[in-house]
Amino acid sequence: MRDAEPKAIHLSDYRPPAWLVDKVDLDFSLHPSQTRVTSKLSLRRNPAGALGAPVVLDGDGLTLVRLAIDGKPMAGPSFEATPDRLTLAHPPADAFVLEIETLVDPTANTQLMGLYRTSSNYCTQCEPEGFRRITYYPDRPDVLSVFTTRVEADEAESPVLLGNGNLVESGKVDGTSRHYAVWHDPWPKPSYLFALVGGRLAKISDSFLTRSGREVELGIYVEHGKEARAGYAMDALKRSMRWDEEAFGREYDLDVFNIVAVSDFNMGAMENKGLNVFNDKYVLATPETATDADYSGIEGVIAHEYFHNWTGNRITCRDWFQLCLKEGLTVFRDQEFSSDERSRPVKRIADVRALKAAQFTEDQGPLAHPVRPETYREINNFYTATVYEKGAEVVRMLKTLLGEAGFRAGMDLYFERHDGEAATIEDFVASFADATGRDLSQFALWYAQSGTPVLTVSGAWDAEAGTYRLDVAQEVPPTPGQPTKKPMLIPLALGLVGPDGRDQPLALGNVPVENGVVEVSEARQSFLFTGLDARPVPSLNRGFSAPVNLVSDLTEADRVFLAAHDADPFNRFDAIQRIALEMLKTGARTGSLPATEALVTAARAILADTTLDAAFKAQALALPGEGEVARELAKDVDPDAVFAARKTLRLAMGTALEGAFATTYSAMAATGPFSPDASSAGRRALRNLSLDFLAVTGSAEGIARAKAQFEAADNMTDRITALAVLTQHEVPEREAALQAFYDRFERDALVIDKWFTLQAQIAAPGTLDRIKDLMLHPAFSLGNPNRVRSLVGAFAATNPTQFNRADGAGHEFVTDVVLTLDGKNPQVAARLLASFKTFRQLEPVRRASAERALRKVAETPGLSPDVADIATRALG
Ligand code: BES
Ligand code: ZN
Repeated sequence: MRDAEPKAIHLSDYRPPAWLVDKVDLDFSLHPSQTRVTSKLSLRRNPAGALGAPVVLDGDGLTLVRLAIDGKPMAGPSFEATPDRLTLAHPPADAFVLEIETLVDPTANTQLMGLYRTSSNYCTQCEPEGFRRITYYPDRPDVLSVFTTRVEADEAESPVLLGNGNLVESGKVDGTSRHYAVWHDPWPKPSYLFALVGGRLAKISDSFLTRSGREVELGIYVEHGKEARAGYAMDALKRSMRWDEEAFGREYDLDVFNIVAVSDFNMGAMENKGLNVFNDKYVLATPETATDADYSGIEGVIAHEYFHNWTGNRITCRDWFQLCLKEGLTVFRDQEFSSDERSRPVKRIADVRALKAAQFTEDQGPLAHPVRPETYREINNFYTATVYEKGAEVVRMLKTLLGEAGFRAGMDLYFERHDGEAATIEDFVASFADATGRDLSQFALWYAQSGTPVLTVSGAWDAEAGTYRLDVAQEVPPTPGQPTKKPMLIPLALGLVGPDGRDQPLALGNVPVENGVVEVSEARQSFLFTGLDARPVPSLNRGFSAPVNLVSDLTEADRVFLAAHDADPFNRFDAIQRIALEMLKTGARTGSLPATEALVTAARAILADTTLDAAFKAQALALPGEGEVARELAKDVDPDAVFAARKTLRLAMGTALEGAFATTYSAMAATGPFSPDASSAGRRALRNLSLDFLAVTGSAEGIARAKAQFEAADNMTDRITALAVLTQHEVPEREAALQAFYDRFERDALVIDKWFTLQAQIAAPGTLDRIKDLMLHPAFSLGNPNRVRSLVGAFAATNPTQFNRADGAGHEFVTDVVLTLDGKNPQVAARLLASFKTFRQLEPVRRASAERALRKVAETPGLSPDVADIATRALG
């Protein structure tokens, strides 16, 4: 166990490592409960490190068996070993080989960090600090070493043995039932990128020819019998490899690239060098078992982990404060990949929806922190929407500011300067500044200041002069630890839409505005646009060019106009969403919804517009979620009132547009066999949105249509959305369909997760009891992160009325699960507890109940550092 009350770690305390590891030879003798790990470290004093410093290696719950220096066994007083640290106060020389033998128990490892078992296979997860649960090591990302790994295991139990890099040798261990494999990774790397896998796995194979002519062997390892489900992942991998060559000039650098799908995994996937380990949810797909969202998730995650090979692995992070250096940048890269593979505007809309739902919410609450934090107690709690999603937005803004060529020049310089190094955000930003000659010091505030800037904009039309003045004010709200802020550099993409719906020329003082982007850099600033012949409607923050909250003086009529005419598809989407959002806010606040005509008109026009693709229409017409309305309300939120307003609006739209939705439902029917491509997925999305609106009244006809679709579906997207529609209505068809679904997919854990989630999302008072029953279901297990997230995680994150029940039972239930889970898997427990991050927005009764539940957690003795940190900061 680690320190119960870990100290805060500060970026300003960073010191270079005192000792370096030039190479490391690892030997694993795999055994279910007693795996023997022998590590030979070639240690060398760092000339840039603290003078005369002892050797201090990290551990976490380790059992030391043996220690030797340059082949000679070490004894007693020459070292000090605790489960969490190995210290050599008086190293024998400035360079020597330290041999360490430890014993670890992978079966007892329920944290799923370090070496653990999953479906009786062996696998590892080392990022960020899991390697120290395997052996003593300077477990920090700025110690790069060349790893050679020998893995030995019982051949019947583990016929497959995998490691990082290239396979150099394998064979039988004479006279035993065991065999071994030796893997060598020529690229120096930090310990967090180490991985090994052993077990009974099936493989699908392919190959990739890099543009310089290197043949790479590709393998995806899955449970036996699941081979046919890995084809889409393999295809996505090859497309990712090609894309990185074309878009970033980055080639793969080993002879092998392996992916292993496991069913017990804390996160989505992990970019270990040459041996990515994946949550099987992001590998396995067939039309019958995976939704369109699953397919696009697989594509995105495969790409993300592959792209880390350059942004993360070849150039890694100096310390964990720099996490966004690899994560934000790599999210940006995977978003760009998916945009190129699918529809750019639709991908942007989906990404911004996710950004607002997760990151804007985080920024508004007690867990807000900068993209590059300056202090942490538990690094595992900083793999957040801010580091990832806002981190990606910051990279995107750099590209917007510097242009395509400037951005590429900066990236190229970054790779050239820092390949093989552990870098910082300063290094990254300097590459762009030096490549383009631009001063980026104000821009760098995006990494340091937390909180979502509020941009308040108003316009003034001067008919006589033909000018339009845009007055812009920016303010970054206070966040924990940051009461006051400086003005940021905000790239604001915009257009001035004329009465004919076309963009008018964009010029400041008669000088054309390049790329339609103006730079807001002061607290208050005015832009005078000239040469206009009619009053324009401004289309602001096009493509969501900056992650800000925009407050403008646009009227509802302006928005209806933009929804119909804006040349920027993102802003067409945004205009209609904003109309709905304002109505929902009023509805939730006052209990009565404003007139719906404008929204219905805008929606009807979008449905009928033959120039728009189906996926776009589905996004535009999907009403803002309960979470978004709550976030916009910001205080005294009554989730029941939000739900009621949304329900009323759904009813109004479903009724007013019944004919249009019925036509769309038929028109979007499949024309051929299932294909997961973006355009077919878009048609399904629009058809299923129509189904939902057609059933919104709960009429016999609507329910019958959903039931028919549920029964006839030839793919999971259509089946699950029909089931979702049925579950949201209190009708007899609901239980029958749930049972039929269960019976059909009983043996398929990933599909049963969807079944858990749907039930966790029912917005009705019986849900909490239903969930408690489901936790006793044989298919449920607290030991499996996917099961926990699909049932309890989905309840806390996506069922606001029931999680925030006025009687407090929802809060109490979730914190009870957190406390039980904390003893098994602190990381997953902490993530679950983080769903309380919005509790201060609630109305007083619910706020008090959430606070009570959080206090109970905070006061529980023996908490993990992970849960203690979230509880403390959430209450903070
Ligand atoms: N490096 C992370 C995985 C990770 C996260 C390890 C947290 C340890 C702690 C990986 O590259 C990643 O970011 N995975 C994401 C999915 C990705 C598509 C954003 C994940 O696992 O959620
Ligand atoms: Zn990542």
